[in-house]
Amino acid sequence: MAALDGREINPVNLSEQNQWKKAAAEEALKLVEDGMVLGLGTGSTAAFFVSALGRRIAEDGLRITAVPTSVQTETQAHSLKLPLTSLAQHAQIDLTIDGADEVELGTLYLIKGHGGALLREKIVAAASKRMVVIADESKLVERLGSLVSVPIEVVRFGWQATGRRLTELGGNPSLRLGSDKKPYVTDSGNYIMDCAFGPIEKPKEIAHHLDHVVGAVEHGLFLGYTQEVIVGGREGVQTLKKTGS
Ligand code: A5P
Repeated sequence: MAALDGREINPVNLSEQNQWKKAAAEEALKLVEDGMVLGLGTGSTAAFFVSALGRRIAEDGLRITAVPTSVQTETQAHSLKLPLTSLAQHAQIDLTIDGADEVELGTLYLIKGHGGALLREKIVAAASKRMVVIADESKLVERLGSLVSVPIEVVRFGWQATGRRLTELGGNPSLRLGSDKKPYVTDSGNYIMDCAFGPIEKPKEIAHHLDHVVGAVEHGLFLGYTQEVIVGGREGVQTLKKTGS
């Protein structure tokens, strides 16, 4: 395919992208130690980690317990016979491995929630001593909001009023629909409004406003939750460390 200026565009090949996700997941597996309580993220990259974890438990007898961040991850974990636990049993999680929709270079601020699990993901991240994100290089951005919208989980009651407030904040919200064209419902029974802010200059300011929107349960800006991101890409796997705030 050629761009308007004649340059060749090399669209990311999906199976290649999956290889990058898998490579990042395998690297993250090296961080898991016997006896750990783990947080298990949601999404296709996290699913590679969960299956690699299942393999290590079966082959090496690794002993861990894990808190899943969605029904989807819980189902996968069950199928692999991973021992599951909950935040009722553990006040703190040793290590959470999760994916992301965007990663801001330097700050390692994240946008999460395009898989619909941001609320549980943020609860688990907040209860974790260490959160490591795994991603392929297509998720890296100079500024959050450059590629994807910010998902916001809202209660169903009065979602239109909540949406109007999000519009006032410049979010240009749209109600997420499922494949059946009906509103998408999260594991916690809420709706999601995807807010297209565009490239976000001051993410902390936007997050602060979103924290105070009545009817919004949680938003997909994860600021300051992770210090390390394992990235798979053309050049192999690299670990990014937080360098800014
Ligand atoms: C789930 O709600 C999201 O936060 C995921 O972590 C995110 O969408 C990444 O998903 P993929 O690994 O499938 O890109």
